[in-house]
Amino acid sequence: MPEKLRGFRDFYPEDQEIRREIFETMMEECRRFGFREVDGPSIESVDLYAHKSGEEIMGQMFNFIDKGGREVTLVPEFTPTLARMVASRKDLIKPLKWYTLAKFWRYEEPQSGRFREFYQLNADILGSDSLHADVEVLNLAGSIMKGLGLGNKVKLKMSSRTLLDDIIKYLNIEKKDSLYYLLDRWIKISDKEKDSLISEIGISKENLELIVTGKIIEELKSPNLDRLIKIMDEFNEYGTIKIEIDLKIVRGLAYYTSTVFEIWDLDEKMRAIMGGGRYDNIISQMNGDYTPAVGFGMGDAVVENLLKREGLWYEKEKKRVFISIADDKGRKYSYYVSKKLRESGIMVDLNVTERNLGKQIEYAAKMGFKYSIILGEREFTNKIISIRDLITGEQFSMNLEDAIIKLKNS
Ligand code: HAM
Repeated sequence: MPEKLRGFRDFYPEDQEIRREIFETMMEECRRFGFREVDGPSIESVDLYAHKSGEEIMGQMFNFIDKGGREVTLVPEFTPTLARMVASRKDLIKPLKWYTLAKFWRYEEPQSGRFREFYQLNADILGSDSLHADVEVLNLAGSIMKGLGLGNKVKLKMSSRTLLDDIIKYLNIEKKDSLYYLLDRWIKISDKEKDSLISEIGISKENLELIVTGKIIEELKSPNLDRLIKIMDEFNEYGTIKIEIDLKIVRGLAYYTSTVFEIWDLDEKMRAIMGGGRYDNIISQMNGDYTPAVGFGMGDAVVENLLKREGLWYEKEKKRVFISIADDKGRKYSYYVSKKLRESGIMVDLNVTERNLGKQIEYAAKMGFKYSIILGEREFTNKIISIRDLITGEQFSMNLEDAIIKLKNS
């Protein structure tokens, strides 16, 4: 049997139908917040990511030389594409609120919640440097969590790179990049690696403790701290999910300029559910107009794990009818009946085999259909339909119009 590649997934209907509902919930919430859908290519030039996304993403690209000799890659993330799209159109009326839900590819070590191919929802506001834009994207993310039934299972952790830079100055730390790295990797690296980074940075245990616990905030005065607190206050005013400051949130991507945030499950047993922040410079770096921006990416994998853990991974009941066919007259009649039912919005499947009636009904019951319509010569001649309730075994006949009303309301 051929094997699929490591880090890639097949989606069978029983899971895919639930995934589709979850994606719909996410996108519907974006639309309710006034975000408009966009999309981009699946392959981009490698150059697009150089100096923007950072070394980690550069090392994870599915890159190759195309037939024209260009170095290209499957897109590892949406933000550089989005920036390119905005930079190349001077006529756009800002601020823009855009979302997309697409597949992305990263050659990273497959593990729980992380794959080499994944879906990610991106929602971004481009063209506002106001903290109210930060609040709006965070409210959207919180509302999506609530909409998925996860509102009280997750928390938003946030920080700011400019605030961290204030702290770095205040504590006289010289090795800024190493401190960023240490904080970003805090829960991923061994104690040994931590110790060697700590001695490389030359930070005292007391000062590091002040940062890691967030206590430093009590003694620091900074406009960047005031901004962060204002964002949190306004986020709480709207009221969706828990929020807290966590100075260990730095994020691996190079382009973030100030606010950075992630959503985690409450006890932090899983990986980040969502990550994002403010990136004010990428678009001007691409020779576009200065367009400060803020947004997030939310993957499908950890959401799925969390919904499964919380018993929320199930399909909402659908009205599904299976038409079983007794004879040739019934087959002929089935085209009329199925068309009418489908046109009225009912989901209808029908027998496409040569099985006998008993086997057809058995199949419908096994497949989880609630009703089977049975059509044969009697139904055709009398212009009626027979319906069997596959749960109770009850069977009744009625005209098509009444059947449509019954099936829609049951
Ligand atoms: P990111 O932190 O790389 O940010 O990814 C954001 C989210 O995408 C993660 O929290 C996770 O849910 C999901 N994700 C990332 N990598 C994988 C993977 N290998 N498998 C499954 N899920 C994954 C970005 O991508 C930024 N471009 C987000 C952004 C948009 N910032 C501003 N706007």
